[in-house]
Amino acid sequence: MPEALPNRGASTESLEAIERASLDELRELQLVRLQWSLRHAYDNVAHYRRAFDAAGVHPDDCKALEDLARFPFTTKQDLRDNYPFGMFAVAQSEVTRIHASSGTTGLPTVVGYNAADIATWSTLMARSIRAAGGRPGDKVHVAYGYGLFTGGLGAHYGAEALGCTVIPVSGGMTERQVLLIRDFAPEVIMVTPSYMLAILDEMERQGIDPRECSLEVGIFGAEPWTNDMRAEIEDRLQMHAVDIYGLSEVMGPGVAQECVETKDGLHIWEDHFYPEVIDPVSGRVLGDGERGELVFTSLTKQAMPVIRYRTRDLTRLMEGTARPMRRMEKVTGRSDDMIILRGVNLFPTQIEELVLQTPALSPHFQCVLTRPGRMDELTVRVERRPQVAAASAGSELARLVKDRIGVTVNVEVVEPGGIERSVGKMRRVLDERPTR
Ligand code: DLL
Repeated sequence: MPEALPNRGASTESLEAIERASLDELRELQLVRLQWSLRHAYDNVAHYRRAFDAAGVHPDDCKALEDLARFPFTTKQDLRDNYPFGMFAVAQSEVTRIHASSGTTGLPTVVGYNAADIATWSTLMARSIRAAGGRPGDKVHVAYGYGLFTGGLGAHYGAEALGCTVIPVSGGMTERQVLLIRDFAPEVIMVTPSYMLAILDEMERQGIDPRECSLEVGIFGAEPWTNDMRAEIEDRLQMHAVDIYGLSEVMGPGVAQECVETKDGLHIWEDHFYPEVIDPVSGRVLGDGERGELVFTSLTKQAMPVIRYRTRDLTRLMEGTARPMRRMEKVTGRSDDMIILRGVNLFPTQIEELVLQTPALSPHFQCVLTRPGRMDELTVRVERRPQVAAASAGSELARLVKDRIGVTVNVEVVEPGGIERSVGKMRRVLDERPTR
């Protein structure tokens, strides 16, 4: 029997009133805010005025939440076309903070916040940390990167707002991360799940038993990870592993958060972000429960409202559990990360699940795409676990992939430490196919 994890559920009294509000109250608030947001975007951002006019819709046409479906989508390309500040709805002098996401190609996507937006973000991050099991007075080790990336500063402001002691370590220098965890004894860590694994390995390398360390709650996001990965981290660290979701275009981390008491998907903070799930091809809005691309409309953002922003993240909406607000299922992947191999669609998260079901293999892996002849090939490059003989692990994984996903892949089992560690988001797919 695994040892019980510490009780970290939030008491009802500690929740904000809106976290306990009825769905009717929530929908009413959303409609008022949505009408404001559409008008704010239309009146102050040339792009939205043009896009709404071209689609023949006006903010006054939004009489019910469903009317949002009549408004045009916004894409990353729209943000790039208006680089750097063209999507701002307030004067640049009112903008107190800029963040940007690097993107793998082309221009960064730039986002701006005014003082009110930063206050909202801090409140929502505090709410997220509380839902994850953090409490005022906890020490919070922030190993998300600080800088233009929203992870570090988003976590930082939220932890401060909740009344925690923040340890702003940022990413990198793994040996020192371990030293600081040992000496400062934080209860909470905020970091990408892949970097948590690197820290975990470093603890073991230094002869520290991770299960003995002070950590009780890990708040992991910024990249897809599976429930099998949750089990791996919870078991090796004897702590809760909960999921946090967000994206810079919509705010940063803290758009949705899993609750520690249920760990059953992420509650979307719907009082500030209105979610839709659409068919990525037709753009049709899907019903709750149907899987598709997640789309967000900001309801309160001032400096840079986003209307129907297409995230490219794939998930489905589900009714609330630990909170009345709807949940999104753990993100399977981004449409950009989807590998199409001989007609079969697959995501690195599916490989992650199967790697973790192969006892001799560690969770450090990458998917390498090549084209040796006319056909694409996928090689899963994966480390064996230390102190474990892995002679048949490669063929075992290849068989699992064939049985469960239906494609033939190569598996290359490498020595522990053979896969490069990420200090932030892990690059799961390496595309080594020749460019024509
Ligand atoms: O990654 C914000 C963030 C920081 C979230 C720290 C959570 C923790 P971007 O760099 O703009 O922002 O990347 C956003 O990362 O569209 C998803 O594809 C992916 N992503 C973020 N959180 C999760 C998650 C931050 N929990 C993009 N699960 C998003 C799966 C996630 N994917």
